[in-house]
Parts: sequence; structure tokens; C-alpha cells
Amino acid sequence: MYDDPVLLEKIRQQFDSAPYPNTPLDSNPQGKHDLLFIHSLVTPYYLRFQQPTDTRGKVILDAGCGSGYKSLVLAIANPGAKIVGIDLSHQSVDLAQKRLQYHGIDNAEFHVMPIEDLPSLGMKFDYINCDEVLYLFPKIANALRVMKSVLTPQGIIRGNLHSALQRATHFRAQQLFSLMGLLDSNPEEMEVEIALDTMRSLKDVVDIKRKTYDRERYESDDKTHLVLMNYLFQGDKGYTIPELFSALREADLDFISMVNWRQWNLLELFKDPNDLPAFWAMSLPELSAEQKLQVFELMHPAHRLLDFWCTHPNLPTPSPLSSWSDTDWQKAVIHLHPVGSWQLLVIQ
Ligand SMILES: C[S@@+](CC[C@H](N)C(=O)[O-])C[C@H]1O[C@@H](n2cnc3c(N)ncnc32)[C@H](O)[C@@H]1O
Repeated sequence: MYDDPVLLEKIRQQFDSAPYPNTPLDSNPQGKHDLLFIHSLVTPYYLRFQQPTDTRGKVILDAGCGSGYKSLVLAIANPGAKIVGIDLSHQSVDLAQKRLQYHGIDNAEFHVMPIEDLPSLGMKFDYINCDEVLYLFPKIANALRVMKSVLTPQGIIRGNLHSALQRATHFRAQQLFSLMGLLDSNPEEMEVEIALDTMRSLKDVVDIKRKTYDRERYESDDKTHLVLMNYLFQGDKGYTIPELFSALREADLDFISMVNWRQWNLLELFKDPNDLPAFWAMSLPELSAEQKLQVFELMHPAHRLLDFWCTHPNLPTPSPLSSWSDTDWQKAVIHLHPVGSWQLLVIQ
């Protein structure tokens, strides 16, 4: 049932000894509008269905909730929703539970369990947030399939993968440290120090150091976490846009949008979007969403995460705003996004 039980156990050990994120329990995301905006179900729901949705009574799963900071963000961004958090790691789930209690969130429950076992909860979810987890699965399509099996008919999944291109040097560093045996079992203080000593001892111009080692951060109080989440991250893997889309096809899920879609705008990469070379002026409008994203990542792999929303296939697609007539616009109603206060939602 598990793609690689030995790896799963290594991942569990890593997060039991260092739950992620190590954000203090009293840290409050209220007022962090950008964070709340991307964690609000209203955002992807509007992108897909061009309708706002009421978050009251919705059931939201934080799959691989870690120490629960994002579960707290989900609770605040989706008033009246029930939050269910699950994670492999007992220590992480303990912290997540304490965090939500500390902030007075009652409508939440947490379970120690792997994502692979989700169907055994016997619940369906309107939104599944699977943040910084999917890239740890040996077969991402399998994880997506399990989440799809517990998704309501108009439910939405948010997932993300590490970018193979943006993070290429980190993956080389992981290979190096693996060769040194630092990832044979659960990396602890000694392995962290050996990795750091290696970096400190290299000349600054050495490629692996120049591209991955930020002295200030790696000498801060957070250094153990940083090393574990970068140089010594058990199971970490990188993906490309075509690999992401091929996993979505395998799991029979429809892509909705990148989470930070405004930062994946291909036109923004050109000096003058109104004066493109003839090849690009002709071919860009013909490209699919997948092709545009692939061209973007080949030209400018700036994003660490391929962060996306997806849903069931074959759901009705509303007419795009660009095709609306004057009469449509006269009948349109404008809503304020409930958490991104400057965002307008327009519905017919
Ligand atoms: C990098 S942390 C992300 C935590 C949280 N989602 C966040 O973004 O703040 C990855 C978490 O996924 C959990 N995890 C990894 N594989 C899992 C699996 N197969 N089932 C459940 N949890 C898993 C780990 O225990 C860890 O807590």
C-alpha cells in the first residue's frame, strides 16, 4: 500500500525529531493578507467556477499538517469551516493540536496517520491543502489519487512540488551528503554539523557553496532546521512542469491555476510585451496553459515551488470574463474577497 515503507519511516523520524515549521506557538497570521488569500477556499473556487463560495460548514483537510501553522492559517482564512489535520509524525500533530487550542480554534481535529490511509477516516473534504509534502512521495500520482478519492464533487486540492530546475544545486548537495553517508539514518546534530563544516570549509566561489549557502542564515539559531529542510532532507525530489501535468493526467485531475499565478506570466519576461519577436507574437497565443508554464520555467526557473490547484475533471466551465458582452457587465455583481480585502470577485 505504501510506495516505499522504509523511506516513509525515515521521513517520519525526521519530522518527529524536527517538526516543521518551527514557528513559535503564539505566532498569529491575522493581518497577513497574502497568506490568508492563498489559503482561502474562495480564491481557487472563484478561479475555477467564477463564483464566490461560503466557507461556513466546509470541511478542510491539511494533509501533512506538520506543526500546524498552515492549519491555523486555514482556520482563520476560512471562517466557519472545520479543519482536519493529519500527519505521519506524532510530535508534529501534538504541536498542531496545541497551536490551534492556543489560538482558541475549537472546530478542528488532528490524526496521526499517513496520507495513504486517508480513506479510513470515512470523511469527504471540500478543500485539501497539501503544502510542502507531495514532493516526498515516491509516486506523486498515487498521493493525488488518494486525495481525489476523499474530495467532494466540487472540491479543490492545493499541492506543490519542488522545482527540479530552481533547486538543482540543492539536489546536488543532497546527493553529495548522501554519498558521505549523512542520510543513511535519521540525520541529527552530528550530521548537521558535518554538512555545515563541509560548506564552511569550501572556497566561496565553489559552485555548490555559492548557489546554496547563505552564511547568515546557516549560522543563525534556525540552522539545524535549515540544514534538515535543504541539505539533509530525506525523500526530497524535484519535478518539472511536464512531470506535474503528467501526474495530474495519471490521477485524472484538472489543473486550475498556479497558486502564485501572477508570478508565472510569460509576457512579463519580455522587455516589451507589445513588441515581441514575430515567432513569439504568433506562437504565444496558441500555447496551452501547460506549455506556457513550461516555457516560463525553461526561461526563468525562479520559483522553488510548483504550487498549484486542481480539481475533478469535466466540471462545468463558466464563460471567461474576456468573452462577456456589455449587457453581461451591466448585470454583473461585484463581491469583495472575504480575506484579500483589495481583491474583487465579479459574477454574472
Ligand atoms: C515540510 S513539512 C510541511 C508541513 C506543513 N504542511 C507546512 O507546509 O507547514 C512535511 C510534513 O509532511 C509530513 N508527511 C510526509 N509524508 C507524509 C505522508 N505520507 N503522510 C502524512 N504526512 C506526511 C511530514 O511528517 C511533515 O510534517
